[in-house]
Amino acid sequence: MPAGGFSVSAPSGVEFEAKITPIVIISCIMAATGGLMFGYDVGISGGVTSMDDFLGKFFPTVLKKKNEDKESNYCKYDNQGLQLFTSSLYLAGLTATFFASYTTRRLGRRLTMLIAGVFFIVGVIFNGAAQNLAMLIVGRILLGCGVGFANQAVPLFLSEIAPTRIRGGLNILFQLNVTIGILFANLVNYGTSKITPWGWRLSLSLAGIPAVLLTLGALFVTDTPNSLIERGRLDEGKAVLKKIRGTDNVEPEFNEIVEASRIAHEVKHPFRNLLQRRNRPQLVIAVLLQIFQQFTGINAIMFYAPVLFNTLGFKNDASLYSAVITGAVNVLSTLVSVYSVDRVGRRMLLLEAGVQMFLSQVAIAVVLGIKVTDHSDDLGHGWAIMVVVMVCTFVSSFAWSWGPLGWLIPSETFPLETRSAGQSVTVCVNLLFTFVIAQAFLSMLCHLKYAIFVFFSAWVLVMSVFVLFFLPETKNIPIEEMTERVWKQHWFWKRYMEDDNHHIVNGKINNGASV
Ligand code: BGC
Repeated sequence: MPAGGFSVSAPSGVEFEAKITPIVIISCIMAATGGLMFGYDVGISGGVTSMDDFLGKFFPTVLKKKNEDKESNYCKYDNQGLQLFTSSLYLAGLTATFFASYTTRRLGRRLTMLIAGVFFIVGVIFNGAAQNLAMLIVGRILLGCGVGFANQAVPLFLSEIAPTRIRGGLNILFQLNVTIGILFANLVNYGTSKITPWGWRLSLSLAGIPAVLLTLGALFVTDTPNSLIERGRLDEGKAVLKKIRGTDNVEPEFNEIVEASRIAHEVKHPFRNLLQRRNRPQLVIAVLLQIFQQFTGINAIMFYAPVLFNTLGFKNDASLYSAVITGAVNVLSTLVSVYSVDRVGRRMLLLEAGVQMFLSQVAIAVVLGIKVTDHSDDLGHGWAIMVVVMVCTFVSSFAWSWGPLGWLIPSETFPLETRSAGQSVTVCVNLLFTFVIAQAFLSMLCHLKYAIFVFFSAWVLVMSVFVLFFLPETKNIPIEEMTERVWKQHWFWKRYMEDDNHHIVNGKINNGASV
C-alpha cells in the first residue's frame, strides 16, 4: 500500500531534475502509434465508403443511388447502414472508456495500452477479411474498443513519463500523430482506390501497421512510476523514476508522487468526487470543449471529405486528391500550435481560429448555395478550387486551435484527485459527439444541403463567445497552482471556489466538502 507516512512534498511549481532519456524518446514513439491508430481510423472510412467495389459488396443500394442521376446530389450517400460503418467505432469507444478508466488504475497504463493493441489487431483482421456487413461492423467495434483504451491510457502514460518542461509539447504531439494518421489514411485510399476489386481490403488492413507497433511498444516499455506507486510497488516505482529521469536525485518527485497517490487513494468514488461543486468549472469546461470541438464540423470534413467532394461534383480521383490536401494542411497547421501554444496562449489561438472558421464556413455555404443545386453538380473549375481553399482555411484554423486544445486544456486543469476520472469523461464525451456527427452528417447534408455549413458556423460563433467570457488563460501556469491563480481569480468561476473547504493540511486531507 502507498505509505501514509510520506508527507514531504516539493513546493509547488518547482522543477524536478530530469534529463531527456532514451526511455522518454520511446514513450514519444508510443504516443505516435496510439495517435496514428486513432487518426488512421478517422481518416480511412471516408475514402473506403466512396469506393464502388466496397459499396457494391456491402451497400449495393447506395451504389445504385450513387449511379442514378435522378438522386439529389446532397442525398447520394444518405444511408444509415453506411453511417453505422463509420460511427460504430465511436460508440464502442465511448463504452470502452469506462472499462479503460478501471484498467488504467488497477492494471496500469502499460497493460491498458497492450489491451488496446490486441483489440486493434483483432479488429483489423475482421475488417480486412470481411465477407459480410456483420464482420465489417464487428471489426469496427473492436477497433473502437481499442480507441477507448488507447485514448485513455496513452495521454496519461505520456504526461506521467514526460519531464514537466516538455509535457505540453508532448501532449500536442499526440494530436500531431492523429493528424499524420489521417493523412496516411488519405494517401493509402488514394492508392488503393485504383486496385479493383480489393483495394478497400488493403486500406482497412494497413491499419495493422500502427496496431502492431502499439502492441510491441506496450510489451517493451516500462509502466509509469505513478502507476507502479499507485499500485503499491514503491521500490520498483522509484527505480523506474531514476531510470527515466536519468538521475539518482529523484527523492522530491518520488515523494510528491507518493503523496499524490495517497490523496488519490482517499478518494473512494472518483466519479462522484468529480461532481462536487468545487470541481464544477473544470468539469463544465472539459465537457463543453469536447462538444464544441465536434460541433466545429471538423469530422464532417475528416470522415466524409472524399464523399463531400464527390457530392460537389469532383470526379472520384480528384476528390481523394482534395482529401489528401486537407490532410496535409491538417498536419502542418498542428505544428503551428506546437510552436505557439505556450507563446501566444490558448485563448488567442481559439479566438483567432473562431473568426477564420466562421468566415470560411459561411463562404462555403454561399458558393454551394449558389452553384450546387439538387441535380446540377457542375461547380465549375474556379469555384471548385475556391471550395477546396476554403475547406483548407477551415481545417488549418481547427488544427491550431480546437484540435489540440480540446485535449490539452482538460488535461491541464483538473486537480490531481480528479484527473483520471476527468480524462475518462473527456474521452467519453468526445467520442459520443464524434459518433453523433458521424451518424448524422450525411442525413443532415441531405436535408440541410449547403445550409449545413451555416449550422456549423453558428456553433463556431457560440463557442467563440464562450471562450471570450468563460475560458481562462492557462498558459505558463503550473498545474498545481490552477486553483489559486486561475479559478479563484476568474470573474465567473470564482464563485465555485468560495465554499472551498477541501484543504490539504500538513499532508493530511481534510475533506469537509459535502457531495
Ligand atoms: C479530434 C478528432 C478529429 C481530429 C482531426 C481531433 O482532435 O478529436 O475528432 O478527427 O482532431 O484532426
